[in-house]
Amino acid sequence: MADVTMDKLISLSKRRGFVFQSSEIYGGLASAWDYGPLGVQLKKNIQNYWWKEMTQLHDNIVGIDAAIMMHPRVWEASGHVENFTDPLVDCKECKNRFRADQIDEALLKEKKCPECGGELTEPRNFNLMFQTHMGPLEDSGSVVYLRPETAQGIYVNFKNVWQTSRLKIPFGIAQVGKAFRNEITTKNFIFRTCEFEQMEMQFFINPTEDDKWFDHWMQKRMNYYHELGIRPSKLRFHEHGPGELAHYAKKAFDIEYEFPFGWKELEGIHNRTDFDLKRHNEYSGKEMIYLDDQTKEKYVPYIIETSAGLTRSVLMVLSDAYEDEVLGEGDERTVLHFHPQIAPIQVGVFPLVKKDGLAELAKDIEKDLREDFTTFYDQGGAIGRRYRRQDEIGTPYGITIDYDTKETGTVTLRFRDSMEQVRVHKDELTKRIKTEIANYKRGA
Ligand code: GLY
Repeated sequence: MADVTMDKLISLSKRRGFVFQSSEIYGGLASAWDYGPLGVQLKKNIQNYWWKEMTQLHDNIVGIDAAIMMHPRVWEASGHVENFTDPLVDCKECKNRFRADQIDEALLKEKKCPECGGELTEPRNFNLMFQTHMGPLEDSGSVVYLRPETAQGIYVNFKNVWQTSRLKIPFGIAQVGKAFRNEITTKNFIFRTCEFEQMEMQFFINPTEDDKWFDHWMQKRMNYYHELGIRPSKLRFHEHGPGELAHYAKKAFDIEYEFPFGWKELEGIHNRTDFDLKRHNEYSGKEMIYLDDQTKEKYVPYIIETSAGLTRSVLMVLSDAYEDEVLGEGDERTVLHFHPQIAPIQVGVFPLVKKDGLAELAKDIEKDLREDFTTFYDQGGAIGRRYRRQDEIGTPYGITIDYDTKETGTVTLRFRDSMEQVRVHKDELTKRIKTEIANYKRGA
C-alpha cells in the first residue's frame, strides 16, 4: 500500500470538499482552515463518537458546554498567564520569528538566523493566549482571553456539576469546544492551528487512587482509537520526560499517531493532581473540597485528564483511511477506508440508468434510508465512475437499482473495501446495513 503524503491529502481535501483554506479568495489566512460539506460531517461524526463513548456509555461521566471567554482571574489561577509561553527569537534582518527551542543549538548560540544568517534577538517568553477586550474600554481592566484549553471551564464548574447531578467520586465531566493558541508553527495543514477544537474529559478521583485511574484511562483511550478502526501499528504511547511536562502535570502520556510527517501527539493523558482545584480555591476564595458522604472523608480531588484534539483527529482519520489501490490490469482507485460509523456519507444510491422508472425507484429507496444513514443520490455517468467517486470520499456502501429491482424488489449492495456485491431485498436494506456497520472490519 503506497504511503499517503500530505500533498495527496490536501489535494483530495480541497477537490472533494473536506477542507478549504480560510479566506482563500483573499489569499488565505495562515494556519486557518474551513471545513467543507464532507469535512464538517466527518468532524461532527468523530465528535459524536467521542461524546457517546464518554457520556452515553459511562453512567459516571456527564457533559458541559462552558463559555470560551472566562473571568481573567481563571487564567492567573490556572498558571497560564505566568507559564503558558514559548521562547521566541526574531531575526533583525528578515524579521522572521522562530521558537528558540526549535532552532539548531549552534545557530542559537551564534545568534544566527536559520533562514538568512542575519542576527537574532535574545530569546524572550511570548504568552500563547490570545487577548482581547470586553466592552467599549480598552483598558487593562477589560482584558479577556480566548481559552487556551477547555479544561478550565470544567474545573470552575466542578461544584455546580457535582452538586446538581449528585455524582460521587470517581466521576467525570466531558466537553468539546474551541480553544486558541497564538503559536507560530503554521505547517502541516490542520495538524496545528491557532484556532482548534478539543475533546476533553476531566475525571475527579480520590488522591490515593491516581495511579490506578491513570492506567485505566491510558488503556481505555488507546482502545477507543482501535475501535474507531485506526490501525494499531500507527499508534503508540509517549511518556513526557521532566522537561516536557506541562506546569500542571505530575505525569503525562501522549497517544501518538504516525502522520505522514512523523509521530505526533493526538491526545494527552495527564495526572493534574489537585493543582487546578487548589489554585481556584486560593484565587476565588471558594472551597473546592469534596465530601465523601459515606466515609466522611474531605479532600480536594485529583484529576486525571484525557485531552484529545478533534481537528487533528480529522487529519489522523483521513491519513489512516487513505489508500491509492492498484487493482490490476492498469486499473487503480483512491479509496478512503473510513469506519462506517464516521464516514460522512454512509450509503450511495444509484439507478443503473435514469429511464424506465429506475431513477424514481432509486430516489424512493434513498429517501427511506435517510432516517437511519447519511445518504447520497447520484445518477450521473457510468456506474463504475459513480462507485469510484464514492470510494474516494469513503462511502462504505453503494446500492444500485436495476431492472431486476422492478421485478423482484432486490438491489445490489456493494462494499467499498472489497468491492464485492451481493443482492439484497430493498425492504431488508436498513437492517442489513446496520448489521454491516456493527460488524465492520477494515478491508472486508
Ligand atoms: N487541557 C490540556 C491541554 O490542552 O493540553
